[in-house]
Amino acid sequence: APLWLVVPAAGQGRRMGADRPKQYLALGGRPVLARTLARLHEAFPGARLCLCLDPQDARFDPAWVPFAHWRRVGGGAERVDSVANALAAIRAEAGDDDLVLVHDVARPCVTTADLRRLHAVLSADSVGGLLAAPVADTMKRDDGAGRVATTEPRAGLWHALTPQGFRYGLLRRALAAAREAGVTVTDEASAVEALGASPRLVAGRRDNLKITHPEDLALAELILAAQAR
Ligand code: C5P
Repeated sequence: APLWLVVPAAGQGRRMGADRPKQYLALGGRPVLARTLARLHEAFPGARLCLCLDPQDARFDPAWVPFAHWRRVGGGAERVDSVANALAAIRAEAGDDDLVLVHDVARPCVTTADLRRLHAVLSADSVGGLLAAPVADTMKRDDGAGRVATTEPRAGLWHALTPQGFRYGLLRRALAAAREAGVTVTDEASAVEALGASPRLVAGRRDNLKITHPEDLALAELILAAQAR
């Protein structure tokens, strides 16, 4: 069965406060988007890619896509809408049991080892799952006024990373249900959880950073350099 990759890259990245969406900022001389796609291609050269881009996006260069089988899909208002568009675009070709891995364009530091391990685990899992890392900091919930209301026990808490991977049919149903219900889902797993299923947590590296804030770009450069040693 073919492996499908969905890369949502239609966000504006406003938290970066940069002059362009974060996927087009330079990371070690190459755009973040090119680096992320290169990592995915290294792990899965034969996969089929759906890249979700803002239809108004004029910065994108197809030369950054190393995959032989790929298509550009219009992004939606929210991340979940972008991913749903991608699933709709491959409807005629994808089988319900095909595995779909969804990976943030803003995570260029994911390693090929983590990608391959996730794929191996999910290939044998009927639900699907995600890369995740145990929480290291103590977690506080605020009272809405700048003071601590409670300390959340961190044992058993994980950071949800990407890729997140599910069977095509399940993911499509989950995202459709979430959009219909109008609930905000910030990842694929939470949409699947809302259907009553329990995605598998696959322990991944903590340096699978999501570039979000300006300081993250320098951190990502250090991570990539350290990984190359
Ligand atoms: O903003 P955030 O970092 O949470 O976005 C996660 C991913 O979803 C990014 O890769 C971003 O480009 C993508 N996205 C999208 N369509 C949107 C909003 C975000 O593809 N409407």
